[in-house]
Order: sequence, then structure tokens, then C-alpha cells
Amino acid sequence: EWSPPFENAADTDYAIAAERDAATEAMETVRQQLGQRYRPIINGEAVNTDTSLDSVNPSNPSQLIGKVGLTSQAQADAAISGAKAAFADWAATPPAERAAMLRRAADLMESRRAELNAWIVLEVGKPLGQADPEVSEAIDFCRFYADEMERLDAGYAYDYPGETNRYRYFPRGLTVVISPWNFPFAITTGMTVASLVAGNCTLLKPAENSSVIAAKIVEILYEAGIPHGALQFLPAIGSTVGAHLVQHPDVHMIAFTGSRAVGCEIYAKAAQWQPGQKHLKRVVAEMGGKNGIIVDESADLDQAVQGVVYSAFGFSGQKCSACSRVIVVESIYDTFLNRLLEATRSLNVGDAAAASTKVGPVIDAKAQEKILSYIETGKQEATLALSLSAPDQGYFIPPTVFTDVAPDAVIAQEEIFGPVLAVIKAPDFDTALAIANNTDYGLTGGLYSRTPSHIDRVQTNFAVGNLYINRSITGAIVSRHPFGGLKMSGVGSKAGGPDYLLQFLEPRHVSENV
Ligand code: NAD
Ligand code: ALA
Repeated sequence: EWSPPFENAADTDYAIAAERDAATEAMETVRQQLGQRYRPIINGEAVNTDTSLDSVNPSNPSQLIGKVGLTSQAQADAAISGAKAAFADWAATPPAERAAMLRRAADLMESRRAELNAWIVLEVGKPLGQADPEVSEAIDFCRFYADEMERLDAGYAYDYPGETNRYRYFPRGLTVVISPWNFPFAITTGMTVASLVAGNCTLLKPAENSSVIAAKIVEILYEAGIPHGALQFLPAIGSTVGAHLVQHPDVHMIAFTGSRAVGCEIYAKAAQWQPGQKHLKRVVAEMGGKNGIIVDESADLDQAVQGVVYSAFGFSGQKCSACSRVIVVESIYDTFLNRLLEATRSLNVGDAAAASTKVGPVIDAKAQEKILSYIETGKQEATLALSLSAPDQGYFIPPTVFTDVAPDAVIAQEEIFGPVLAVIKAPDFDTALAIANNTDYGLTGGLYSRTPSHIDRVQTNFAVGNLYINRSITGAIVSRHPFGGLKMSGVGSKAGGPDYLLQFLEPRHVSENV
């Protein structure tokens, strides 16, 4: 009988009435806790700050989720000193003990799942059906990286008669984790626990807009036994204190997930040697995408329409994996397009906390403005085929579809990060594949087809890190779909995959004449 190589946490089944009741109750409990103050935690102490930011609910920006104290540069330096002082002990903690802490954290997350879901719904406007899998993913990251660390800890033996040769992995030192708001629970947890289980002291700088969720992760990790010196919580403005952390000579590694512009800046700055620095820094930078799905003449259109709509409009198109271009072969173009528009019209846009909502808000006013400006550009360079209605209050953007989009149009090339889909017509499959590859990015991609030769071709010739055939292109599952991109989508090996932890470790080899 087949059994999975890794047991993934199950998402909540909301068909069960008791689960729906638990979700409603948790939402009520969390609503009672809104507006509290969160502070940086340096060497285990919550410290006062001169400045703070208001984290608000994107569905209803007048609702304060939490007031977040912003770490100053001097406080960031103190956290680095604390992490440095803690490093020897943390590095010497047996990997199995560190792994056990991650497994405890996973159990705590499972026991607090309904509450954590509610924080995600409220702080970043992610509907429950997509928030819950994030908690599953975070749990999986904890358990998977715990297993991985134990596997790698065995190292390798290359013994010869008269000579033992041992290859073993050691932690790098201090990691700065810089996380995005769009997977505020899963990605923040993943990068942080990978660094920790590898024995690195870790300074977590979460995205400004999701600092409260990050505070919950830190609370759980401390409760699971992670020592205070090994994990420092530094909510801060990325462009100032985040940049300062990246350039600090005592930092060994930066694990970043976010936009291309910031990733490129971090990559460049981390490469510059600073006085006092005794090493070169390792950077893992997971960045954006301009992901395309090809629909060919043999595709099952029921499947294709459903997969494209889900991939394009899930979490309002704010997934790095989201579909923002669908490239359709001419012979089925009209049929596909009519059905795509019909299916898009059925999406409910509204408050992320409402059970009927399929598309919630975007993250903030700045994102809303940027997406609206891309929609204006789209109106100049293509045909606006559909724009749904959306609430006036809150940071909403109507799901929008453009047709007659040229492959090199701005809306076909730049990451919009909103619910905007460009439909591109291609005369045949070969041209469709060329159009799909005609982007700087290479994160996810998809093909809907029942033609074996097309399915074969994309496996080698579609240049993306994660290719999906006859299914949606979002929602990678830890260990089953190791996740990460090529080209300008990032440097670093795949999250939730067999090479990920290696990036947080340094191999050393010892040869002994016996
Ligand atoms: P962002 O780049 O604006 O911010 C990401 C993080 O970087 C935040 O914590 C921010 O404070 C920090 N930051 C900003 N400027 C900085 C600087 N100069 N130095 C150091 N840190 C700085 O990205 P975002 O808006 O939070 O996230 C959305 C982006 O992330 C999209 O482009 C999306 O495609 C990408 N993303 C990629 C993946 C992936 O796995 N490839 C996953 C999720 C999101
Ligand atoms: N891992 C996330 C997804 O696959 C980004 O959608």
C-alpha cells in the first residue's frame, strides 16, 4: 500500500458544522483582542520604541489590528549583539533537540489553528479558505525541516583503509529573515524555522503589514523552547532598519522573500564587504513572477477555466505564484474566453471575513493605487473585457480581464500583484510556448492540454521553477511541490524541498589518518 514520504497536515474541513462553529468562535475571540500593542523582542525582552505603525484590516481600514513598535537601528544592533552572544550555545544544541522544538511549534500551531486563521483573515484580508492552508503549510515546514535537519546531521562518510573522511554540516552564524506580507504565516515561519533548526541565530524582520501575525509566530516558537538569544523579533521599516541589518558585518546570511526590486537591492548590498566582516554573505532571495498558463486546442476547458480563475483571482492575485497571463491557442480562443468571463462574473468580491467572499481586498492603499494604475495602462494597450464591481470601503480592486493583449505589453510583462488577468491569443502551441517564456521571470507556469507531445515539450522547454499540468498553478504543498523560481524570480533552492536547508548550513570535511 502506498504511503506518502512525508505526512502533510490536513486543512480544516469546513463542510463539518463543528469546524465552522469553531472558526466563528475564534474570529469573535480574536476580534476582542484587536488593537493591542506589539513590541520588538530583543534578548527575550519586549522593548519600548520611539515610533510605531498601525496594522489595519484591509477589508475595513478603520479597524486597527495592532499597534506595532518599530525597532530602531540601535535596537537592531543590540539584537545582533545578543544573537552573536547566543550563537555558540545554539550551534552546540544537538540538532535532534532543535528539531524537537520545531515539532512542538507545529503542534502548538495545530492547537491554535482556528485563532491563527482569524488573525490572517483580519490582518492581510485573506479569505478563510486560503488562510487555513497557510497554517497547514507552516506546520509542514516545521515538521519537514525538523526531519531534514536530522537527515543532514548524519553527514557522509567517505572512508578509505587507513583514513576516515567525514563530511558534516555546521550552522553559518546569524541569519536575517526578511519576509513578505502575502504569506504572512507560512513563508515567515518557513524561513525562520529553517534557519533556526540549522543552528543559526535568527533575526526576524517581518513585512510591516503583517507584523502582528509574525508576533504570533514568535510567541509560538518561544513557547516551543527556542531560546531568546537565538530568535530576535525585529518589526521594522524595511528600507531603513531592514537595509541596515542586511549590511551589518556580523550577519552571515539573508533569507528574503519579496519583490524583485528589493531582492535585487539586498543581493547587491549583501555582496559589499563591510569593515570588520570576516566572511561573504549568502543570500536566498525568492522574488516575483509573471506566471502564464497555456491553454491548447486539446484542453479540457471545464478544467482550464476553473484552474485559470482560481490561479488568477485567489487571494486577489496577490500570490507570487498567481496566473497573470493566460495564453490561448486561436482555435479555441472564443469558446475559452466566453467561459472564462462567465466564471469570473460569478466571483463574490467583499470582506475577507464573510463566508461568501471569493475575492477579498488587496493589502493597502499603495497597492490599490498601483494596481489601478496598471488597469489604466491596460485600457490604453489592450481591450478591457471585464471589470466586476467591488465595495467602495476597504482596499478593493474589481477582478479585471483584458483581452487583445500583445505579448510585450506592459500588463503582459510586469508583475501587477492584483486581480488582473491578461488574455493573449496565440496562433498555435509553439507560439504560445514562446510567449509564455517571453518574460524575465520564471516562477510558476501551467499547461492545460491532452496532447502528449505538448505535455512532453513543456517539461523541458517551459522555463519555470514550478510547472503545473492540467491543474491550478498556486498552492504548492511542502515536500510534494518544492517551491521556488528561476531567472528573475529568485536565487536559492526550493522551499519545502530536499536542498533548502543546505543553504543555511556550511559543510566541513575532516580527514584523519588512522
Ligand atoms: P517587498 O519586497 O515590498 O517587501 C518584502 C520585505 O522586504 C518586507 O519585509 C519589507 O519590509 C522588506 N524590505 C523592503 N525594502 C527593503 C530594503 N531596502 N532592505 C531590506 N528589506 C527591505 O515585497 P512584499 O510586497 O512584501 O511581497 C510581495 C512580493 O513578494 C511580490 O513581488 C511577490 O511575487 C513576492 N513573493 C515571492 C515569493 C516566492 O516564493 N518567490 C513568495 C511570496 C511573495
Ligand atoms: N507557495 C505558494 C504557492 O504555491 C506561494 O502558491
